[in-house]
Amino acid sequence: MNAQKVILDCDPGIDDSLAIMLALSCPEIDVVGITIVCGNVPVSKGVQNACKVLDWMGRTDIPVYKGEEKPLVRPYVDAMDTHGKDGLGQSGFPVPSGCTVKDNAVAYLESVFTTQKDVSVIALGPLTNLERLLERNRAAFCNIRELISMGGTYKSHGNCSPVAEYNYWCDPDAAAHVYTAFSSLPELKDKFIHMVGLDVTRKIVLTPNILEYMKNVNPSLGQKIEAITRFYFDFHWKQEGVIGCVLNDPLAVAYFADRSLCHGFTTYTAVETTGISYGQTLCDAFQIWNQLHNSKVLTQVDTKKFMMLFLCRVLGAQPDQASKVLDQILVGEVLA
Ligand code: BDR
Ligand code: CA
Repeated sequence: MNAQKVILDCDPGIDDSLAIMLALSCPEIDVVGITIVCGNVPVSKGVQNACKVLDWMGRTDIPVYKGEEKPLVRPYVDAMDTHGKDGLGQSGFPVPSGCTVKDNAVAYLESVFTTQKDVSVIALGPLTNLERLLERNRAAFCNIRELISMGGTYKSHGNCSPVAEYNYWCDPDAAAHVYTAFSSLPELKDKFIHMVGLDVTRKIVLTPNILEYMKNVNPSLGQKIEAITRFYFDFHWKQEGVIGCVLNDPLAVAYFADRSLCHGFTTYTAVETTGISYGQTLCDAFQIWNQLHNSKVLTQVDTKKFMMLFLCRVLGAQPDQASKVLDQILVGEVLA
């Protein structure tokens, strides 16, 4: 199998960390670098968290680049209420020493995309780093093979305002510029942003039962996942009445590895930058604006298939057993 080269642009972040684990466990994906953007936590903490995950996965050879420290225009608002003060659920894991950490993520992105056309980006945080690349070197930006972005929402409600999802709400100006580029630049006319928004990610819930199974299958990694998600579980219960936690970012990685996981439609999407609805994605499903399509908006997801992929790839679960356990958990009874 030919692994596709990928840069993970992220703000780890609890679910970003699980997404990094998944990417590193997929034979379809060759993670060539990790770029950090300010989002869930300030970039310096994001860098430390990426290093922790790389250490757990035995992949400290992958370089981590420190990116933009604030959104383009708006004041920076972190999400430490959701992810904990350290961004990893206040789990207290030490920062490893053997990681390769470098400055200037945007310069790194520019150097990669100036010379290569076969590298994709899975963006799991605000689009600030990518907007800076676009601003600095349009030709390099247009060489991104595929852009998968966890962000936005079509019909589902927002998580930072009634209509806005965090990544685009945090830096709406960056998101708007990147989406506009995909509908206006001739070099990008055959490309779309794959928008992995809340319509699909909200359906991916890590429940206490699934976590229990993870610990049985792979105690070492399962316990780490438990340690970093406890805070996230509490947040989901208090905030949304959900038992467990939503795995937004891992779905974007899973979709990159297996396109049959999600389905949607292509359309023109605009991002609001002002007023009370800033950060909202307006997906023109009925072609009212008659604009060139810039996005593939995902609306359907096979939740069991996602969970199977995560359990088998990251934790090393056996497919037959994982399938049986998930049927038991999802249906709520032991199947004969
Ligand atoms: C997104 O915001 C962050 O809190 C998560 O890491 C995810 O990327 C969900 O809205
Ligand atoms: Ca994220």
